[in-house]
Amino acid sequence: MENHTETATLSPQDVARAAQLLRAGHLVAMPTETVYGLAGDARKADSVAAIFAAKGRPAHNPLIVHVDSLEAAERFAALPNPARKLAQTFWPGALTLVAPLRNGHGLAQAVTAGLPTVALRVPAHPLARALLAEFGGPVAAPSANQSGRISPTNAAHVMAGLAGRIAAVLDGGPCPVGVESTILGFEGDEAVLLREGGISAEQIAAVLGDWPRAHTGTKITAPGQMLSHYAPAAQVRLDVTAPRDDEIWIGFGPDCAGAALSLSPSGDLDEAARTLFATLHQADAMRRPIAIAPVPERGVGAAINDRLRRAAAPRD
Ligand code: TXA
Ligand code: MG
Repeated sequence: MENHTETATLSPQDVARAAQLLRAGHLVAMPTETVYGLAGDARKADSVAAIFAAKGRPAHNPLIVHVDSLEAAERFAALPNPARKLAQTFWPGALTLVAPLRNGHGLAQAVTAGLPTVALRVPAHPLARALLAEFGGPVAAPSANQSGRISPTNAAHVMAGLAGRIAAVLDGGPCPVGVESTILGFEGDEAVLLREGGISAEQIAAVLGDWPRAHTGTKITAPGQMLSHYAPAAQVRLDVTAPRDDEIWIGFGPDCAGAALSLSPSGDLDEAARTLFATLHQADAMRRPIAIAPVPERGVGAAINDRLRRAAAPRD
């Protein structure tokens, strides 16, 4: 298991050092366009075990494997036709595709939590791409936060959750998308939306000619979709237009001029996605109950609302 006393902060010039750490079996947090990922060699059982240990992640929750091209992805999984079409359109980018593993895939079994399928993504962030190219192999990378806590969109968030538990964080500044990738599974040729994310259902429908089916929890499961997730320590109320005196109000749009914090003062959904987790980290640090203004459900608003509902869900 990883047990570092100190976590190094690496700058963009240190990609070769980061790749060397991965080759030695260590864990490195890397920036992606969505959120920071906790990277380890997806073929090494010890590295994958260290990822689960550093996050305190339950072993039944599989990881996303990051590769540098569609061709590389197809070495690990058999992509159905609609998946390939989506990959050609949205990769590199904020889309994860779940497809059946190929024989001889070479991935550590724990990456897929023993499932016959694997989740694959080609990230777009230049530093993630540089790291994948330099490393030259598949990288398992869940979001670089403690399991169940708010996802990290800058290097300081990673440090706050994982300092001392990982070898290094590659600092690429704030993540440009800010919410995790959209996850799609397939039943035959039918796309099933397992998690809303950076690529909207509208964008997927525009390529496939059909909306992805909503995940009903029957056949395909994304085990990570536990209700209480992205959880701040404080209580969270949603759709609040009139906050109580004791609450930190997080606004959206020009109607919330009095709010202490805002996801986007102008009401821009892309900006709101980009600032979402940093704003939740900031509000959480104030140790007061949090009240959040309504956010429209269109486009990336669906992913924002999904994360907010999970942040507000009752804890066990
Ligand atoms: O944007 C992202 O996707 C970020 C960056 C780092 O790439 N990663 C991320 O990973 O959000 P994580 O581990 O926080 O979420 C991965 C999700 C989990 O909900 C997991 O259950 C699901 O992907 N997943 C992984 N493999 C799966 C599989 N074979 N079938 C269904 N769901 C799977
Ligand atoms: Mg996560």
